[in-house]
Amino acid sequence: MNKTVSIINSISFQSILLLVALCTFHLFYENSWASEQTKHYELSQFISPETCGGCHTQIYEQWQGSMHNLASDDIIFNEIANAGLVGLSSKDEIEEAEHCQTCHTPVGYITGFPRKTSDDRTKIAPIAKQGIQCDYCHSITGAYSIYNAQFNYSPGNGEDDPGVKRGPFKDSDSDYHKSEFSEFHTKSELCGTCHDVKHITSGVWLETTYQEWKQSPYSKQGVQCQDCHMYQRPEYPSTGSTKRVKNPGTAADGSVEREHIFTHYFVGANMAIPEHYKAISKEQDQSQGKENISIISKMAEERLKNSVDIKIDPKVELKQQNKADAKNIKSQNSEENRIIIRITNNGAGHEIPTGVSNIRQVWLKVIVKDSKGNVLYKTGIPDKKGYLPPNTISYSTVFGDGKGNPVDNLAKAREIISDKRLKPMKEKVEKIDIGEFEGKITVEASLLYSGLPQNVADSLKGLNGMNIPVVVMKYVKQVVSQ
Ligand code: HEC
Ligand code: HEC
Ligand code: HEC
Ligand code: HEC
Ligand code: HEC
Repeated sequence: MNKTVSIINSISFQSILLLVALCTFHLFYENSWASEQTKHYELSQFISPETCGGCHTQIYEQWQGSMHNLASDDIIFNEIANAGLVGLSSKDEIEEAEHCQTCHTPVGYITGFPRKTSDDRTKIAPIAKQGIQCDYCHSITGAYSIYNAQFNYSPGNGEDDPGVKRGPFKDSDSDYHKSEFSEFHTKSELCGTCHDVKHITSGVWLETTYQEWKQSPYSKQGVQCQDCHMYQRPEYPSTGSTKRVKNPGTAADGSVEREHIFTHYFVGANMAIPEHYKAISKEQDQSQGKENISIISKMAEERLKNSVDIKIDPKVELKQQNKADAKNIKSQNSEENRIIIRITNNGAGHEIPTGVSNIRQVWLKVIVKDSKGNVLYKTGIPDKKGYLPPNTISYSTVFGDGKGNPVDNLAKAREIISDKRLKPMKEKVEKIDIGEFEGKITVEASLLYSGLPQNVADSLKGLNGMNIPVVVMKYVKQVVSQ
């Protein structure tokens, strides 16, 4: 072999090596968030919730109709996911928009179908359609990053060989499956691995419930997601401002009595979806089990009503810069009167709103009346269609395209433009200029919640004019003087 050729050969050999190394690195880098997802599981490895429910009757009934059960079918999720596929310009945006099933249809995703948002929903296997379910959660062994569902799993091999189910007990015994204590299941990280969502190409944090909790006083006190959300049952909202009373009972029919059985309703704030599926199951007369759905929206209301506190200062404040003169020439400066409203998130272990905080609407409604009952000021009052006026004091998050323009489609999100949410155990002070008045005024303030702006709901054809419930989280009335 002559020398030149051998040099060329060695160069190309080296560059091939380098290329291979680069590609491997690139692949690793590209897929590092998803390296677990490349591990393949068979659908036949997963057992249907109905089988688990054969012994875990109560837990099954609680979970059935929960937002976890409905996560894949959820019509609001599907409408927004489908709308999100339209009008995208870049590969990066399309990749994100196609990435919805990872958490919403997780058994399907890890077993190969659906992998994409645009995959044909009618082909989703019945087990996968049941959303976030028993055998999925109880086959998790840990996570390698606490976001975007980056779990490790160890499922069994279907009904005849169910494998190990992991949970909170160190001494659990079942004839059917092996049991194992899993510390991971007792901690917020299990929940946080799905409840923190990062845009897979732009890297913007789209949901941060876990991080919000991690920075809150609750994490320091060791109060986990489970301590609020898996203690709730009718009449026990189990929030930060209410007692979180233990739920004694048995985990399976006829098994040992335990001091606390974690409930599986997984109630947050969603009422629109439970109400929608309650109506459907009534229409189709499929009442078995699904009557639970109405309990879920009622519990969401109880949760929301125990989330915040509002106080109105009994005296107005005069604007800072005029304070000195204001003492002498008060009447001339009376347009500087401000009412002070203090809102504290004393119930949620994270910000309000959390999760998909771009579509969750939390806003302040204020009505100020003089002694004769004339309205001096108002804000946050929806019109006849249920749409909010533009000057509304709102706590929703606004995402942007990276150039300061707001975006509705989160696949286009490259920045957060505004985040004014209510932080856990922190007071938010709103100062509202109300202009001139004499004597005493009456201030009524309420904080309201709606899962989706009614105008957005009306723009999604598939929702067929769905009415999005509005909940008064807190209402206060206060006489205010100068
Ligand atoms: C990493 C997990 C994860 C991924 C991926 C994910 N979601 Fe979600 N999604 C969640 C969680 C957790 C919630 C519940 C948060 C809440 O209730 O505020 C949620 C709730 C929602 C809701 C609210 C549904 C309702 O009934 O109000 C919509 C809409 C939604 N997601 C759309 C999407 C779309 C569109 C995509 C893909 C672009 C997507 N999600 C991808 C975890 C995920
Ligand atoms: C979102 C994940 C998730 C889903 C879905 C889920 N579980 Fe659980 N389950 C948990 C967690 C977490 C705990 C333990 C909580 C703790 O210790 O803090 C638990 C506890 C349990 C326990 C122990 C008894 C108790 O409740 O304390 C049993 C039994 C159980 N689950 C069965 C089921 C069955 C049956 C289903 C389906 C009908 C189901 N789980 C669905 C997460 C889940
Ligand atoms: C034939 C009855 C039966 C079936 C079916 C069954 N279990 Fe169990 N399971 C039990 C019994 C009994 C216990 C023990 C309860 C206790 O220790 O208090 C148990 C305990 C558990 C625990 C607690 C484990 C621990 O160590 O904390 C989990 C989690 C669990 N089951 C999940 C499931 C899931 C998921 C399914 C469906 C794939 C399922 N079970 C199906 C009877 C059953
Ligand atoms: C596999 C991913 C996954 C895991 C694990 C998970 N969740 Fe969820 N969770 C979701 C998704 C997705 C939704 C939203 C479903 C929807 O709105 O369509 C949701 C919804 C909820 C809701 C209802 C939100 C509302 O607006 O009403 C609560 C509460 C909740 N999860 C709590 C928990 C807790 C507590 C844990 C841990 C014990 C947990 N989740 C674990 C994915 C997950
Ligand atoms: C101190 C009790 C407490 C803890 C701890 C807690 N939550 Fe919540 N959670 C609440 C309350 C109260 C609400 C209703 C108010 C609201 O919507 O934020 C709520 C609402 C939610 C919602 C629905 C939010 C929305 O507006 O759509 C989700 C999702 C949720 N929690 C998930 C979690 C997860 C995941 C964790 C742990 C990382 C957690 N929560 C920890 C009390 C708690």
